[in-house]
Amino acid sequence: MRGRVWGTDSPMIRNPPVPVSQGVREDVVVRQLNEGACRTYLVGSAATRDAALVDPVLASVERYLQTLSEGQWQLRWVIDTHTHADHLSGCRLLAERTGAECAMHRKAGARHVSARLTDGSTLDIGGLVLEAIETPGHTKDSLTLKVPGRVLTGDWLFVGGAGRTDLPGGDPGEHWDSLARIVPSLDDSTVVLPGHDYSGRTDSVLGEERRTNAHLRERSRDEYVAWLSATAEPTPAWMIETLRANNAGALDPTLRIAPTEGASVCAVGPVPRVPQVSVDEVKRRLDSLGPAAQLLLDVRQPEEYAGELGHVPGAFLVPLPELRARLRSCAAPGSPTS
Ligand SMILES: [Fe+2]
Repeated sequence: MRGRVWGTDSPMIRNPPVPVSQGVREDVVVRQLNEGACRTYLVGSAATRDAALVDPVLASVERYLQTLSEGQWQLRWVIDTHTHADHLSGCRLLAERTGAECAMHRKAGARHVSARLTDGSTLDIGGLVLEAIETPGHTKDSLTLKVPGRVLTGDWLFVGGAGRTDLPGGDPGEHWDSLARIVPSLDDSTVVLPGHDYSGRTDSVLGEERRTNAHLRERSRDEYVAWLSATAEPTPAWMIETLRANNAGALDPTLRIAPTEGASVCAVGPVPRVPQVSVDEVKRRLDSLGPAAQLLLDVRQPEEYAGELGHVPGAFLVPLPELRARLRSCAAPGSPTS
C-alpha cells in the first residue's frame, strides 16, 4: 500500500489521531542517567518526588540508587521497554532493593514482572500519568511510553534510525505496522527520547524525524520489509544468552555477557554495522604489530572517549564529523590528543 502513510491524515491509523504533545510540563522531570549509547531515564513528579526508572542497566543499579537518594526520589516503578538483547536489565534488582513494581509489555517473558502493560495502560507516578503504547517490530514486547510532550521510544524509534528487526522476536512487517499506526498520532513537537544512540545525540522532535529518518520515508509495507530484510544478520550467541538472563531476571551486577557493551548492536538504518572488537582486542592486535603501528584513530565523541567504555592509551581522538577537516593533523603522529 502506498500513500501518505506517515502523515497525520494517514489512512493507516486505526485509533483517533490524538496529539500526544500537550507541551512539556515543568512539574514532570525526565532525566537521562547513563553515559554512552544505552539510555536509562528517570521520570518523576517534581511535586511529589515519586519516580520511575525506564530501561535501567544492571551494572549501574548502585549508581541509580545513589541518584534516587540524592534527589529524594521514591522509586514507584521500574520499566523495561522490551526484553533487551544487548545489555542486562536492572529492573529486578531495583525492584527487590526498593519495593518498586516492575512493569513490561504483556508479552514479556520475564516472570518477575508484576504489571503487564497493553495499549493504553497507564502508570501513576505521583499524579503524573505515564501511558504505554504497544510498538512491536524490534521485539514482540516493545513498548513506547508517553509522558506529556515526550515519548520514550525504547528501540522502536531512534534519532535518525530505529532498532533492529532481525533479532529474536523482531519482525520488519510488524515494525512498519506500528510506525504506521502510532507516528501519525504524534504531534510534530513531541520530543523523542530513544533507548539508544550511538552518536552522542540525546533527543529529537518527531517533526524532524518525519523529515529525515529513513525509517519514516514513504514506503509500502512490502518495500519496508524488503529494505530491512536485506541487512538481516544471525543473532550472535551472546545476545541469546543476554535475552535468557533478562528473562530469568539476572541479579548479579558484576555479570558480563556482552563482548562490546555500547556497540551499535541494536541499530539498523543509517548507523552502519561493522565488525565490533573490544578495547582489549584492539590493544592486542596493535601490540602484535609492534612499532609499525604508529597511529590509532578513535573517531568517537569526546565523552565516549573519556567514558565508561574506555579507550586505547595513546589513541588519537578525532570525532568522525571532524575527520575530513583534520586529516592533515592526523597524518602527523605525536600531535596532541584533543
Ligand atoms: Fe533492544
